[in-house]
Amino acid sequence: MAFYYMEPSRTFSEFLLVPNLTTKECTPGNVSLRTPIVKFGAGEKPSVSLNIPFASAVMQAVSDDVMAVALARCGGISFIFGSQSIEDQAAMVRKVKGYKAGFVVSRSNLTPSHSLKDVLELKERTGHSTVAITHDGSPQGKLLGIVTSRDYRISRDALTKQVSEFMTPFESLFYGTSGITLSEANDLIWEHKLNCLPIVDKEQKLDYLVFRKDYDAHKENPYELLDENKSYIVGAGINTKDYMERVPALAEAGVDVVVIDSSDGFSEWQRETIQYVKANTNVKIGAGNVVDREGFLYLVESGADFIKVGIGGGSICITREQKGIGRGQASALIEVAAARDDYYRETGIYVPICSDGGIVHDYHITLSLAMGADFVMMGRYFARFDESPTRKLKVGTNFVKEFWGEGSNRARNWQRYDTGGKESLVFEEGVDSYVPYAGGLQENLDRTIHKIKSTMCNCGSTSIEELHRTARITLVSATSIVEGGAHDVILKDSSLSGE
Ligand code: IMP
Repeated sequence: MAFYYMEPSRTFSEFLLVPNLTTKECTPGNVSLRTPIVKFGAGEKPSVSLNIPFASAVMQAVSDDVMAVALARCGGISFIFGSQSIEDQAAMVRKVKGYKAGFVVSRSNLTPSHSLKDVLELKERTGHSTVAITHDGSPQGKLLGIVTSRDYRISRDALTKQVSEFMTPFESLFYGTSGITLSEANDLIWEHKLNCLPIVDKEQKLDYLVFRKDYDAHKENPYELLDENKSYIVGAGINTKDYMERVPALAEAGVDVVVIDSSDGFSEWQRETIQYVKANTNVKIGAGNVVDREGFLYLVESGADFIKVGIGGGSICITREQKGIGRGQASALIEVAAARDDYYRETGIYVPICSDGGIVHDYHITLSLAMGADFVMMGRYFARFDESPTRKLKVGTNFVKEFWGEGSNRARNWQRYDTGGKESLVFEEGVDSYVPYAGGLQENLDRTIHKIKSTMCNCGSTSIEELHRTARITLVSATSIVEGGAHDVILKDSSLSGE
């Protein structure tokens, strides 16, 4: 006879946090969101921790090198998508590890023989007002000049003017030489009242641009997630098929941690993958996804460094509709967190867990932390920002960003859904969609973090570990969910505001 879970499968929206005593010391400024992401023994320190409990999802539409740099800069980690060639994924990892905060590779470049019209079109397309002029128009070609909006006046006659006629030529530019530190670059920027300082090598080839605004942004990031060489920490998604080639290539590129990306991780394929990575590399490895105690223990006993929880709750996910497998995210998390705590009591080894998918409101993040998650993984949340790799489009009067699932025909990530069958997606488990555009990552993240810290103060906790131990959580009835929103009032909107 089948085994039945007779309790319904619960989602985050069915729970609320009940406040505990808030002491005077319990203020958002005193809350630390630092959290482990790999296993460690009692009394030891984890070898990789996050400064904020956020990971961006292993998805083409979410986690590339640009997102990874932006998120690490704020204290979280990206897992660069694995549904691309090994070479391309390793190149992205290499870019993140080689990224020097404040030094940017020039993204808007032209040659001296382009016209003012070309400059204006490029500016329109990229939004960048500084254009590097190199001998071949490439980001690392010989630097011949710079064009900013101070170099030209727009008129109909001027549109055909060649860039060489109005650019600030190299001879008149202040520049730094390769190897300069960020603080030296910043001194030059201030000394000469510049907005942008090009950095060139001995052959006058352009290496980077340093912008005044980036230096300020860099200084404002006390949570940056750096390794001991001051490079950003980065993760990458892998699969259970080509791991023998992919993981060594990622390790060589400098990856800090990998995660097996699968919709259902309770499998012998995952055990073999974990064991291979543990035996042959020093890379930390997370595994999943699982939704119960058995799945958690199986992967932990296989050697995994952290476990990812969640099947079917993702915003673009149709796994539950297509296959009828999954579990409400809250129920899954509560059971796996209990298994993690029991395992710690029995062995003295703490294995972090990541709640993956289904976060809709910011308070869902706090709830998942309270339910025992050490960090959360999100796709939709990050897809809305400038830093996600997808196109920003205007639909009607609103801006949106594209967002598609790894199991959609668009991503064709058959390895994620493979159960030992054909090398193709036989049916879709994800959709292709839009999400509302929400601006830059940092401003949004700051707001979310402030909400989490402030809720943690309501719960009387100044750390995630304390929240795990002391949170009080209540189930809510369907009628009290109605009570939770604005109700029994006439909301003011423009059509009613006659006063
Ligand atoms: P979200 O934060 O609710 O958007 O969920 C993101 C998570 O959905 C990812 O981290 C994956 O675990 C999962 N996911 C990504 N693509 C697909 C898909 O095509 N089908 C089902 N789940 C997916």
